[in-house]
Amino acid sequence: MGDARLLPRAAYVDQAVLAWEREHLFDGGWVCAGRTADVARPRQQLAVRAGVTGVVLVRDDGGLLRAFANHCRHRGHELLACGERAERGALVCPYHRWSFHLDGRLRSAPRVGEGTLADPESLALVPVEVAEWGGWVFVNADGTAPPLADHVGALDGIVAPWRTDDLVVAATRRYDLAANWKVAIENYHECAHCPPIHPELCRVTVADSGRNFRTEPGAFVGGTMELAGHAATMSADGRRPVPPLPGLSAREQRQVLYVQLFPNLLVALHPDYVLTHRIEPVDATRSTVVCDWLFHPDTVGSPGFDPAYAVEFWDLVNRQDWAAVESVQRGLASPLFVPGVFASNEDAVYQFATMTAGAYLGGPLRRGTLPDDFTR
Ligand code: FES
Ligand SMILES: [Fe+2]
Repeated sequence: MGDARLLPRAAYVDQAVLAWEREHLFDGGWVCAGRTADVARPRQQLAVRAGVTGVVLVRDDGGLLRAFANHCRHRGHELLACGERAERGALVCPYHRWSFHLDGRLRSAPRVGEGTLADPESLALVPVEVAEWGGWVFVNADGTAPPLADHVGALDGIVAPWRTDDLVVAATRRYDLAANWKVAIENYHECAHCPPIHPELCRVTVADSGRNFRTEPGAFVGGTMELAGHAATMSADGRRPVPPLPGLSAREQRQVLYVQLFPNLLVALHPDYVLTHRIEPVDATRSTVVCDWLFHPDTVGSPGFDPAYAVEFWDLVNRQDWAAVESVQRGLASPLFVPGVFASNEDAVYQFATMTAGAYLGGPLRRGTLPDDFTR
């Protein structure tokens, strides 16, 4: 990491940089849009945001997941408001009631005389690339990203033991954050701040035990941390009131994995549950974070199951993080800010910053290479 510095201040405060990122990193990449279960049944529809582009997800009658740009081909009204759901056999615009088949073809255009339209095929919804991995839905709005399997790369094998396809969301929390999306991610990628601001977290995990993946390929950054000796999971007292996820090795039951699939999905794999943070930029200095806690369906269905032990623990840690992250953003507001260097235990921050900087320069999404003599 040598003399490397963090990204320049403009990357965190300049609306023009965020506009570029929305177009190239979000619309131009694979953005996690939620869980497959959100659109599992035929005819289920859900509106989400990629970068600049609103997208409507829909499961067709044959079970195929499709995605379209969320604008009507009449005047451009959104088919569903972002976050809105529907379940019906057509996509129906609320403005003048044009409707579309679930494969995007125009179905009816009231008062336009659709029978006389010269070229109704030209008025189909605009398709968007969509793919599923690990039980999550991803969209690539501009269609320029490599296949999702290439984007995920070696992360597929790393995450596989947790069988995330099978897990179900037992709790969700949403946070509004007065910080650039990258400040939140950089904070996620290091635990040097854990002893100063996370006393509860440090009781159940070994703060300096982080070891980061160098496995290629894949547009991901992250690593492992060790649970403290007495702790069976990340909870206030380290106790785990539910069984471990089936199939995890003894080693995997002693660790938590924290990984980011670029750009917006953060996955924390615990012995008994998986916590995800999905980050969406609102503007250059504000973000929204949606956290899901995923458990095995047998656990969720067991008598007396309550995810609060995991939810309340991480909600506390999240709020400690958001306070720090928002303070960083206030510090970055000053034109006097000069980017700092990387400590030896911030190699994942370095990898993320290098991946982002490489994309700014027009390159592929690649982690920064650590020096051969790098030691923690
Ligand atoms: S804009 Fe959708 S029906 Fe007019
Ligand atoms: Fe933290």
